[in-house]
Parts: sequence; C-alpha cells; structure tokens
Amino acid sequence: MQLTDLLAPHASRLKAIPLAQLNSNDPARARDFALQANDLYLNFARQRWDREALEALFDIATARDVSAQLKDLFDGKEVNRTEKRAALHTALRSNISNAPAARESNQLANATFERMSEIVERLSRPDIHDVVSLGIGGSDLGPRFVVDAFGSQTPTRVHFVSNADAHAVDRCLAALDPAHTAVIVMSKSFGTQETLLNAGVARAWLGEYANDRIYAVTSRPEAAIEFGVAPAHVLPMWDWVGGRYSLWSAVGLPIALALGMSGFKSLLDGAAKTDALVYSAPLRENPAVWHALSVVWNTNALGLAGHVVVPYDERLRLLPAYLQQLVMESLGKSTRFDGQKIVDATSPVWWGSAGTDAQHSYFQCLHQGNATSNIELIGVVHPDHSHNDQHKVVLANLFAQSEALANGHAATDPHLAHAGDRPNTLILMSRLNPDSLGQLLALYEHSVFVQSVMWGINAFDQFGVELGKHLAAGLLRTWDDGAAAHDPVTRALMDEIGRD
Ligand code: F6P
Repeated sequence: MQLTDLLAPHASRLKAIPLAQLNSNDPARARDFALQANDLYLNFARQRWDREALEALFDIATARDVSAQLKDLFDGKEVNRTEKRAALHTALRSNISNAPAARESNQLANATFERMSEIVERLSRPDIHDVVSLGIGGSDLGPRFVVDAFGSQTPTRVHFVSNADAHAVDRCLAALDPAHTAVIVMSKSFGTQETLLNAGVARAWLGEYANDRIYAVTSRPEAAIEFGVAPAHVLPMWDWVGGRYSLWSAVGLPIALALGMSGFKSLLDGAAKTDALVYSAPLRENPAVWHALSVVWNTNALGLAGHVVVPYDERLRLLPAYLQQLVMESLGKSTRFDGQKIVDATSPVWWGSAGTDAQHSYFQCLHQGNATSNIELIGVVHPDHSHNDQHKVVLANLFAQSEALANGHAATDPHLAHAGDRPNTLILMSRLNPDSLGQLLALYEHSVFVQSVMWGINAFDQFGVELGKHLAAGLLRTWDDGAAAHDPVTRALMDEIGRD
C-alpha cells in the first residue's frame, strides 16, 4: 500500500486542527516530540502531526524494516543494489560494525588517513601559501562547506573551483602565485569533464611547478598518474563510498589542510557519535528516524513539495547547497529497487539560505504564500564571538519565526493575517565546531537513508545526471555542424550562436 493512502486518515483528521491548537491541547508535545542527539537538540512539536500519526509512521517504518536496513548499511551489505555495491561511508569514521566488510573498509580508511596526514604536513611547508581544490558535486560541496564554516585555522589558504565556466578558475588563479600554490584534483572517477578541464588550466598555469604541486584524490589512480600526478601524490577513494558521502574520506584533504588533521578527525569523531546513536537507538528514540519520518509525513501525508533549510548561523550558509546534493541526488527518484514505478511523491525540493538574511527575502512567501513548505530552522546556542546581545537577536528571530510560521496571526485586515500551519522543525546545536558539525551531517545522511527505505529507493546511485552529460558530449562532437544538432529547438539555438 502507498504511503499516501496509509497516512490519509491521519492527514485528514489533522488538517482540521490548527497547529497552534495541537500544541495548546497537548502541551507535553513540546518535550515529548523533542530528542537530544549528543550535542544536537531536535524539536518536532511544530510538525503538523500528533501522537497517533506518529505511531502510524513508526509502524510503517517497522513494517519496512528500517532497523534491519540500517544494520545492513553499517555492515557493508550491498545496499546500492543497482550498482551492486556497499555504501560504507560510516566505516570511514566508525568501527561500530564487526562485519568483515566494515572492518576492512575501516582499516583502509585509517591507512589512508596516515598518508593524508603526511601530505598535509608536506603541503604545510612555508613556500606553499595556497591550495586550490578542483572538484565538483560530492568532490567539492562537503569540503567547500566545512572550510567555509570554520575558515582557515592554519597558514594555508584553501580555495575551491568547481564550475566548468572558466571564469571561476581564472578568477581564482589570478589572485595566486604558481610559485606558492598547490592544486588537488578531486575526482572519484577522474573522468568528470568540469574537473578535468579546470585541472588542465591549473596544470598549464603551474608550468614548471606542476610535477611537484599537483595532488589527486581518486578511485582511478592510473588516470591521475596519466594526467601527470606523481604516484606518491595520489590518495585513494573506493567504490564503496558514494561521491556525496565522501567528505569523510581523503576528499576531506582540503578540510585537513584548513583545520589541521586534528580538525578533520574531530569532524569524523562527531559523525561517529551520531553513527553510534543511530545504530543502537530503537526507532522511537532514533533522531534520524524522527527526522526522516517528518519529511515523509510532510511529503506523503500533507503533500508539501518544498523543504526549506534556514541555518541561523552565518558559518552554516553553505549547508543548504551541501544538503541539496546529499538529499536530492540520493532521493530524487521515481523507481523502486524492484524496477516498479513509485506512485508516492518522493524527495521534496530542498533549498534555503542563512537566516536572518532569508527573512528579508523569501520568508514573505513562506508566511503568506499559498504554496506551503516544510521548514527546518537551525540555531547555535553558544556563539564563538563576544557580541552576546547580537547573538540574542539572532536566537530571538529564530524562535519568533518558528512561532509565527506555526501559529500565524489573526487580523481583521486580510492583508495582515498570517494563516500559520507552516510546519517546522527546530534543530539547536550547543556550539558549532567540527565535532558538532560532524554530528549534524551524519544525522542528515542517516535521515536520507531512512527516507530511502520508506520509499523503496536506492539512495546511492544517480543515473539521472547522465542523460544531460551524454547529450552535451554529442553536441560537442557535432559543434561545427549545427544542422546535426538533436531537435529543432537545439538547432535554433545553434543557429543563434552561429550568427554572433
Ligand atoms: O553529479 C554527478 C556526480 O557523479 C556526483 O555524484 C559526484 O559527486 C560528482 O559527479 C563528481 O564526480 P567525480 O568525483 O567522479 O568527479
């Protein structure tokens, strides 16, 4: 039976009850619908559900074998069934599972971290001032986000270039000196067009320094060596780590360069804390399961197609971009494992940006527009600056927005009325540091996996990105012969640029 049908009786019962009333009728929700997950506090009381609906969701999660599937993930079973692979990102940071595949992967990861540590040391020499990381998608978004969050804590300045648009690489290199710069080519496949193009530009720019200064992280070392990277400069990746789950691997090299190896290890330690919790907690006490069920509830019971993430901390401004790939490349699918079409809606569209800026942009639409979204508001309790009054303003705004979205505001003038009933989840982090950030990111990863189990999706393939790549390659092959272009619209576009 589809989720939409299973949840429909609860959805129609709850649609008649304002969210504010759900909480005023049952004030204990404020505590009972909250969980402490190490240094993270999650509150789901402003979700438009009740105890009965939650029970139904937990029953479905039990029937869909969420606990056993989570165990399979940690044990290195072939959870990526279409590509016949394990997805052992957890083994990069935890040795929680005794399964041989997990043990072996954990050992490989630790051996790689030793080599990574040597490379960090080598690149920390005084004549290297800047390191440029070239990669895209999972080989860029995670390290870019973490380095942006904490800035450079070492003398090494780390830069990121991802886009095929050469303005990006030009702009980055123009500010640097080849005599004092190293380049890391991050590509699991070592075949991604954007990354190889930018790597070619960087190699030419490095000139005489290229041999000494190019490093690579890849699962195809032979391709990196052929490109000109010295074998000792190549760190491995493995097919059991998906790109969007890879910041815990040697893909985290830019993080280790900016935060030091100890900062990178703290990130892993934080993720391991969430792993331990998610691995052992029963469904009803499992923060990743609660989080996943809130997404499923909004998607399949309430029919909401948007999921907005608003971190009230400038340091987390790139979190929404990171989550967009993690979630939507994992769950933006409509075919089940068994090849059957999924009739239920699957991943909502995830987007967002840092609060309070977001309040002066699209919050108008969230409060009074007709298309409602689920909203996730994230705050950090203790800041790392000394402007405590200013921090109070940020937290007051976060709490006020959550209340306004949920409870609305009655007014005689309809222009001033706020309908409320905008479901939202609150996540508070005690402090923001690599450890707590690791905890948060691992929580999202596990939530994505639980959502995938609820929908019967393989969270670890991404065939949907291939068609566009394939068509672009075909267009490039026939570039000078516009007439051969694929369809009338593309032909018109080719004609248009030909006239210029
Ligand atoms: O966008 C598709 C994708 O394959 C992502 O899954 C991946 O993170 C990214 O491209 C980069 O791939 P690679 O690391 O192989 O260059």
